[in-house]
Amino acid sequence: MQQQRQQTIGVIGGGLMGHGIAYLFATAGHRVGIFEPDAASRASLPRRLNAIVALLGDDAGLLQRISVHETMAPAVAGAAFVFEAAPEKLPLKQRVFAELEALAAPHAILASNSSAIPTTEIGRDLKHRDRVVGTHFWNPPHLVPLVEVIQNEKTSDDVVRATIALLRDAGKVPVHVRRDVPGFVGNRLQHAMKREAFALVAAGVCDAETIDTVVKEGFGARTAVLGPMEQSDLVGLDLALDIAEVLYEHLDRTAAAPTILREKVKAGQLGMKTGEGLRQWPPGKADAVRERLSRFLAEQARARKKS
Ligand SMILES: NC(=O)c1ccc[n+]([C@@H]2O[C@H](COP(=O)([O-])OP(=O)(O)OC[C@H]3O[C@@H](n4cnc5c(N)ncnc54)[C@H](O)[C@@H]3O)[C@@H](O)[C@H]2O)c1
Repeated sequence: MQQQRQQTIGVIGGGLMGHGIAYLFATAGHRVGIFEPDAASRASLPRRLNAIVALLGDDAGLLQRISVHETMAPAVAGAAFVFEAAPEKLPLKQRVFAELEALAAPHAILASNSSAIPTTEIGRDLKHRDRVVGTHFWNPPHLVPLVEVIQNEKTSDDVVRATIALLRDAGKVPVHVRRDVPGFVGNRLQHAMKREAFALVAAGVCDAETIDTVVKEGFGARTAVLGPMEQSDLVGLDLALDIAEVLYEHLDRTAAAPTILREKVKAGQLGMKTGEGLRQWPPGKADAVRERLSRFLAEQARARKKS
């Protein structure tokens, strides 16, 4: 693999995703400037970045490659890539990209980490739309390997190639999403499963805990090794076809958000943050799940680094 030379990288928004994205590129040897307009969030960045150092057992010296700024211009000065991780609001992201067009170098690649807003919309009013690309990281971005690189109708092939090369060099697993479709690939797959899960619970087939057990202890136990296409090939496409013929007509096809979610939200049962959602979260239980997840992902990240 050809090593990337040290790049300057801008990160817009130092929140949950932004600080992890900055950390990832600093680990890969790049210089990173974070623009974070909120004073409290800026002040908490050293603590949050040091927590990742502690979790991964990295050398804290790598944090010297990260600088934090209260305005955009110094964070993106000389940057070859800018990764936007600002709040998920279209007008705000459009304003950010308009500013980036004015402030970043003309050759800088401008990437958005939006979960759902198409970069076609975010970059709509820019003069040079060929350099706008989607990079959908998964939370936490310094631990989950996948990044979906989404090409919209205007994104140039060179921009996609350069973005994929940078991410791969930083240890990520980038995939090329060839059309700017809502939900890209990962969230479409994830939400197709969730729609069925909500429907099964609403119909009284099983409870929410059973859904989680079936996924984690069933097909989820092998998913990291065997994706759904590999699994279809493994069992044989004749069997896959027989199952599809019998089953697909019974699967949920509701074209709206599920009633069970609307009711829960209306009742203020928002999940771990309120103590109750689809499942019960007595004090301590949610923190234990978060802690277990974080340790699990960190262990996997360490194992990948060694191999
Ligand atoms: N949280 C996730 O699991 C996740 C996963 C994938 C993608 N995303 C996407 O990443 C983006 C950021 O999400 P997050 O979870 O980090 O949100 P966040 O609220 O934790 O962070 C956003 C940060 O942007 C800052 N900000 C506010 N206005 C800004 C502006 N005008 N310019 C620059 N920064 C500004 C905020 O102060 C905040 O620190 C969103 O588009 C989100 O949809 C989130």
